[in-house]
Amino acid sequence: MRKRRVLVLGSGGREHALALALARSPSVREVLVAPGNAGTAREAASAAAAIVNVDFARIDDAEEVVLLARRSEVDLVVVGPEAPLCAGVVDALDAAGIAAFGPSASAARLEGSKAFMKLAMARFGVPTAPFLVTSSIDEAVRHIDAREALGHRVVVKTDGLAAGKGAIVTSSADEAKEAARAMLVEGAFGAAGGTIVLEDRLPGTELSVLAVSDASKLFLLPIARDHKRIGDGDRGPNTGGMGAVAPVPVDAALLARIEREILLPTIHGLAAEGVPYRGVLFAGVMVTPDGVPYLLEHNVRFGDPETQAVLPLLEGDLCELFLGAARGDLDPSTVGVASGLASVVVVLAAHGYPEAARKGDAVSGLDRAGSLADVTVYHAGTAYRAHAAGLAGAAGLAGAAGLAAAAGRGGEVVTAGVEGEVVTAGGRVFGVGGVGPTVAAARARAYEAVRAIRFDGMQWRSDIAESLTAPTGAPATS
Ligand code: AMP
Ligand code: GLY
Repeated sequence: MRKRRVLVLGSGGREHALALALARSPSVREVLVAPGNAGTAREAASAAAAIVNVDFARIDDAEEVVLLARRSEVDLVVVGPEAPLCAGVVDALDAAGIAAFGPSASAARLEGSKAFMKLAMARFGVPTAPFLVTSSIDEAVRHIDAREALGHRVVVKTDGLAAGKGAIVTSSADEAKEAARAMLVEGAFGAAGGTIVLEDRLPGTELSVLAVSDASKLFLLPIARDHKRIGDGDRGPNTGGMGAVAPVPVDAALLARIEREILLPTIHGLAAEGVPYRGVLFAGVMVTPDGVPYLLEHNVRFGDPETQAVLPLLEGDLCELFLGAARGDLDPSTVGVASGLASVVVVLAAHGYPEAARKGDAVSGLDRAGSLADVTVYHAGTAYRAHAAGLAGAAGLAGAAGLAAAAGRGGEVVTAGVEGEVVTAGGRVFGVGGVGPTVAAARARAYEAVRAIRFDGMQWRSDIAESLTAPTGAPATS
């Protein structure tokens, strides 16, 4: 069989993990990452994996992506972030006859519009928190008062995409009204907040449930847990995710219920309305104290940092799985889940994250961390800065392979190669992953690597996966 060339779109830690997992697929000869990041550039330089960065930042431009995919003669395009999906990149690739893994723009509304998602779930009978969709501040205030009178706290969400910051979990009616006002009246989130969703705040524990869908069948990935708050003990503001662990032990009955009541009704309901869902469906699920799973949100792409935790647990051929899903004929036998393996990812964030991340802090210890056994350092907000001697040439190199992401994000002077020093260039800088036979072992690997890495203002949580480390060191279950 002719080996395949795959194009991954995106520049985060998630895309670094996708590129590595696809490069491990026996059917894959080469993975192009557009634009990639300093981490995927390092993979290219190491020659251990057939990963190549492509100088291409316009991943939301459907026509440009089609031209790139044609020019690069790729067999499959895997779309990382939600924005290109919502912009119709997969629709355009489909129309051009190029296989693409990810939902169409219509299906991506599950994430692109929370109002669409809540109303669709109501039609399909998927359990979610009681809610109101509104564009009126007066109606919002009345609803908040009514729910508070019944003893419910309210979560206030922008209808549209808000870079992961559009959900405000409140603890009082005043706080909820303030959030609603910021969105509807003050325009704090622009058009994304012109319509809002108010929903009851649910108690419980959260699960990140990722499933590959071909619009009728699902392949469930190991269940993961994100750690959303910036600080230990789940304190401080919400972030994009400060760490993840997988597999989270979930009993078979609960898992079956999540599949039967949330995942399958979603893809079957959409299909019945003429919107086939192909790609990965990532359900944020709240399991209430009485054991009932509720859908908090659907994302239409892989989670970050969940992906970095989950993909190392897979065996087999991820490219085959994705191609099957893209064609509408998923073959679950192409991929297996490693038994007795656990994975922990600790995010290292920049000074000032999540409010205002500082850029340009020099990073040390990467080689030492990366050389540790059972450790992978995923790059996210990083860039290369030229050594002083190379600075003169650096500006001239700014169009070369691998630069677009870093230059676009950080505005740093960066070099194409891997000679410069790595500097911070975004909020979440690295995801440090460890694997091992137990969660405790995986956690120890990850934290050993964390201790090797340094940059000014580095923030990380010291309690990632702690609640899943059984004192007896019980083996991981999946
Ligand atoms: P979302 O953007 O909808 O995923 O919300 C971001 C985070 O806010 C979730 O991961 C939860 O931690 C929290 N959250 C969202 N909706 C609710 C809810 N109804 N009840 C409790 N927490 C919520
Ligand atoms: N880690 C949560 C997300 O990717 O949305």
